[in-house]
Amino acid sequence: MDSPVITIENSNWDIHHPNPEWIRALESGKVLHFKQLPFSISEEENALFNSGIQNPKSRNISVGADSVLKGAVGDEQTLQLLKHFILRYRECSTRLINSLVPNYSKRLKVSPTSFRPLNISQRKQSWRADDRRLHVDAFATRPNYGERILRVFRNINPEGAPRVWRVGDSFENIAQQFLPRIKPYSHLKAMALNTIGLTKSFRSEYDHMMLQIHDGMKADLDYQKNSPQIMFDFMPGDTWVCFSDQTSHAAMGGQYMLEQTYNLPVDALYDYQSSPLAILSSKTQRKLA
Ligand code: SIN
Ligand code: FE
Repeated sequence: MDSPVITIENSNWDIHHPNPEWIRALESGKVLHFKQLPFSISEEENALFNSGIQNPKSRNISVGADSVLKGAVGDEQTLQLLKHFILRYRECSTRLINSLVPNYSKRLKVSPTSFRPLNISQRKQSWRADDRRLHVDAFATRPNYGERILRVFRNINPEGAPRVWRVGDSFENIAQQFLPRIKPYSHLKAMALNTIGLTKSFRSEYDHMMLQIHDGMKADLDYQKNSPQIMFDFMPGDTWVCFSDQTSHAAMGGQYMLEQTYNLPVDALYDYQSSPLAILSSKTQRKLA
């Protein structure tokens, strides 16, 4: 397997010369890894580094596109500080994406920015929600009709602990392997899910396939152990970017991370053919949406 992580020497959030090779790599499912992007943490912000700041009932702390902070507990001053900290990261991350892949900039939709203060190895959850298993991102409640999920991560651990990821096989190979196993799509079931409010909108056949692939990967312990993969330590201060609906990934350890999600219409890609939507359409010989 070619290395799925590509390290880029750049010490500025603005990429002055967009590089077609990096763009091709990103769109083919590689992780772009930047080691030297500056993001200082003030004395005051050090107070944000405790896992008690996350509401135990929430999956993470986030600021939505509406700039509302969710999932955190603390006094008003701490919450303001936290929100501005997260929004400062959003600004940096958006500068990076706008300059790294300039064609996206007009089409990029800002989705939530999250702060993840919990230690991964201590999280208990069902196999389906367990991100320590290799998977591509697909969300049961949020159909996206092929729209891309682009994410910018940064390890901000203050004690030197890496964020340990596994990065797996290409989406092409994953589709090849899991498509034959997926349950057939039911229009009726999708309508029912939507009517009772289990999905935020109607689940398309594409969304059904992506969820089935996500679940199929996570449920298959032999695949988890024996499929092509590498282990990679993202050190504190590292920033990395990938299409998480395409790049097979698993987070094995670490604590304290910032993450920015964007959604991108599939026709804004440089190469539409590289998208999960195009790959699944071609493999099933159907025009999915
Ligand atoms: C994930 O997106 O699956 C988890 C990433 C992380 O927490 O490092
Ligand atoms: Fe994920």
